[in-house]
Amino acid sequence: MNQIPETRLTEAALREKEAQYCSHGDTVHYSPIPKIFQSCEGTFLYDREGKPYLDLQMWYSAVNFGYHNTYIVDAVQAQLERLPQLACQYLHEEKILVAERLAIESGRAFGTNGRVQFNVGGSQAIEDSMKLVRNATGKSLFMAFMGGYHGRTLGASEITSSYRYRRRFGHFSNRAHFVPFPYCFRCPYGMKLESCDYYCADQVERLFETEFNSFWDAKAEESEFIAFYVEPVLGTGGYVVPPPDYFRRLKTILDERKILLVDDEIQMGFFRTGKFWAIEHFGVTPNIVVFGKALTNGLNPISGVWAEESLISPQAFPPGSTHSTFSSNPLGTAAALATLEWIEQQDYERKVAESGAYFLEQLEDLKKRHAVIGDVSGLGLALRIEVTQADGFTPNKALTDRIFERGLAGGIPTSRGPMGLVLDVGGYYKNVFTLAPYLDIARDEIDLAVELLDRLFTECAEQP
Ligand SMILES: Cc1ncc(COP(=O)(O)O)c(C=O)c1O
Repeated sequence: MNQIPETRLTEAALREKEAQYCSHGDTVHYSPIPKIFQSCEGTFLYDREGKPYLDLQMWYSAVNFGYHNTYIVDAVQAQLERLPQLACQYLHEEKILVAERLAIESGRAFGTNGRVQFNVGGSQAIEDSMKLVRNATGKSLFMAFMGGYHGRTLGASEITSSYRYRRRFGHFSNRAHFVPFPYCFRCPYGMKLESCDYYCADQVERLFETEFNSFWDAKAEESEFIAFYVEPVLGTGGYVVPPPDYFRRLKTILDERKILLVDDEIQMGFFRTGKFWAIEHFGVTPNIVVFGKALTNGLNPISGVWAEESLISPQAFPPGSTHSTFSSNPLGTAAALATLEWIEQQDYERKVAESGAYFLEQLEDLKKRHAVIGDVSGLGLALRIEVTQADGFTPNKALTDRIFERGLAGGIPTSRGPMGLVLDVGGYYKNVFTLAPYLDIARDEIDLAVELLDRLFTECAEQP
């Protein structure tokens, strides 16, 4: 049990104030009564009574390297003493070193020279990347995936697939053209990977077959759509991993039409899938990479964009094109630099592949024990459990919700004492547990996670 920190108010008093003063617009209310947590360490969150909850979502992958990672926390504390505040028009060492490391890492991954610029949140960096593309091409129409999620600011909402996030906010004139993601468990074309020969990629190509399909002028050899936004593995869309050749085929189609590939690594970057950039699994080179979340391990946020030199050189993209007051805030750059140093010391490529394979094996066993698990799969430590009816296919949101709530209620008996479980729910039908454990999760913690899941599936499936 964690040491109980001092609290100011009772839970009832806090909830009363929350009900009166807090908007709900800036949160995600999966639970009718959101849980209050008080502290964190490693892979565990602790409630106000100091009771532990094993976390399998780690702040939507913002905390890949563990709660209260002392290497990163110490760097932020040192910066707090030395240079906690500085306007972004001036330079400081950490900003330059973070940009250098990310540019070198991207150069290694893609064999291309490029530069890096910063912002604060993921959606803001997405919008900055939209400006880069629009600046380079003078055009503004994008393609993106059904199931894709790129944020909820106005610009990012144009390329985020879910209509729910746009419905209340009027007309989006630059709404992307969305194409089906290769979600083989629920193939949008009802096909099987063994025999489809990537029919879904062919369907993208067909859009450009004639000018009357509305994408392409064959005489001018010019597309009206100038960039395709991808998540290499769908995040909010349910941790769907595409089949191995999909991105190579898509890239060929895009290259032939001079359409840029923008790779959103905000959720899957920084070794969530076992590679620095998740797109590295698929053998294609993006023109732009957008990142955020785990770069600072969830401390003072920094997001940003890497782009190839021709798009982002100061001549091409002049000063002030995307400035924001806190874009390279020094507490954030200190956290980012420490995170990148930490990564360099860890051998995550091997570690995540091994832990991911072990975790997935346990999940496959779990699936054998529970008919209501339709699919388990994943890449590295981005793992999914698709919850279904006993037919193994029909989405079962009600059971997903019950398991989610029961995990958060805590006190589940386990071999390591009473424990809660923090899960995240995603997927097109909100029936997928998107598991994003701490990248240093130990074997016995994986066993504990599976023990908890086993109990929750048994207990909750029995309820009506
Ligand atoms: C893939 C992806 N892109 C963009 C975003 C938006 O980032 P933020 O919530 O920091 O604005 C997210 C957030 O979950 C994401 O997962």
